[in-house]
Amino acid sequence: MKYTAEHKSLPVHKEGKEIYQIHFENDFEKLESYLSELDVKTKKLCIVTDSNVGALYAGTLTGILEKVCARVTVFTFPAGEENKTLDTVRNLYEHLILEHFDRKDMLVALGGGVVGDLTGYAAATYLRGISFIQVPTSLLAQVDSSIGGKTGVDFDRYKNMVGAFHQPKMVYMNMSALKTLPDEQFYCGMGEILKHGLIKDAGYYEWVIERMSEITERDSQTLLDMVEISCKIKRRVVEQDPYEKGDRALLNFGHTIGHAIEKLKNFELLHGQCVALGYVAAAHISWKRELLSTEEFFEIRDMNVGFDLPVSFSGLDSKDILDATKLDKKMEAGQIKFILLKGIGRAYIDKTVTDEEILAAVDFLNAEIEDENE
Ligand SMILES: NC(=O)c1ccc[n+]([C@@H]2O[C@H](COP(=O)([O-])OP(=O)(O)OC[C@H]3O[C@@H](n4cnc5c(N)ncnc54)[C@H](O)[C@@H]3O)[C@@H](O)[C@H]2O)c1
Ligand SMILES: [Zn+2]
Repeated sequence: MKYTAEHKSLPVHKEGKEIYQIHFENDFEKLESYLSELDVKTKKLCIVTDSNVGALYAGTLTGILEKVCARVTVFTFPAGEENKTLDTVRNLYEHLILEHFDRKDMLVALGGGVVGDLTGYAAATYLRGISFIQVPTSLLAQVDSSIGGKTGVDFDRYKNMVGAFHQPKMVYMNMSALKTLPDEQFYCGMGEILKHGLIKDAGYYEWVIERMSEITERDSQTLLDMVEISCKIKRRVVEQDPYEKGDRALLNFGHTIGHAIEKLKNFELLHGQCVALGYVAAAHISWKRELLSTEEFFEIRDMNVGFDLPVSFSGLDSKDILDATKLDKKMEAGQIKFILLKGIGRAYIDKTVTDEEILAAVDFLNAEIEDENE
């Protein structure tokens, strides 16, 4: 893997056939011509966005889309994971029905992962499926959620419990949108980026660590390189396994315990923060099995500090986290599908993780338990 970006559009394939392109741009200018290529002249387009992103970018985007399609409408819902629900999807269906959207029309997901997941799910199900494009505006959505066609919503606080695979027709990234992203959200994206290195590419992991100061200063060239490299890693994984029958599950590194913490904290902690805690826990299990050295394990943990991600939680019982982990949907025949590391950049699926191992890892993160290693 080369660690310099080529700044070209990236095609994504399924079963050897190109299905869409990921475009990396510094403004919205080229969206017009890329959309024209999708033959939208007679289509109605609905921009789906949240209250934060809509206030910043929906106006500009509407102006651009109006030039190339038949009509543009905007559906805005309140920002936040707590709104990634079937209730919001219901309101969106209602909007589409009232606006007479039919099968040939298209949705435009403008926002972070919440908007992308929800819009993709509505697109997968409205009239048995209409097309959509992704315009990801958070770092996390750019490097992770906008690529790969996994869509869905939370149900009764169970993360991503209802969903569908539905591929976008295009992913268009305006890198300059990251300028308005709050710091805390920016670092959540870093959680998923570090994850990419940890599971698949030790060289990239080192690359990110070496550029910590450029990244935290949001140097635009470094961010562009980083987003492109991360997209290539994610693309490689989803192309090899579009429906998560095998290796794609590696992307869930950190998500098994992470989702449990996210749910028990009632979404007070952000997704990327929970994932970062979750992968320290998974690394802990790997370390205790002597698959990672002590040095490697503590470097993984300490990188969270460098990128302003948590290394501990409080206010939760470790046993409750264990129980919630076992309720997560990544179970197969009663056994949790855990992602562990047998070295930096080398993740694998393990179905033999015991309750004791999970508890020890969670206790390590639990700020209220005297830490065995401090
Ligand atoms: N489908 C997948 O494969 C996949 C992968 C990873 C994560 N996810 C999902 O993604 C979600 C998390 O995504 P997220 O972290 O982007 O959360 P998010 O969509 O809630 O966005 C984070 C916050 O940043 C704001 N925001 C986004 N872009 C902005 C910008 N440019 N300027 C100012 N504010 C901006 C949003 O309004 C929101 O308040 C979770 O629901 C997670 O389950 C899905
Ligand atoms: Zn995630």
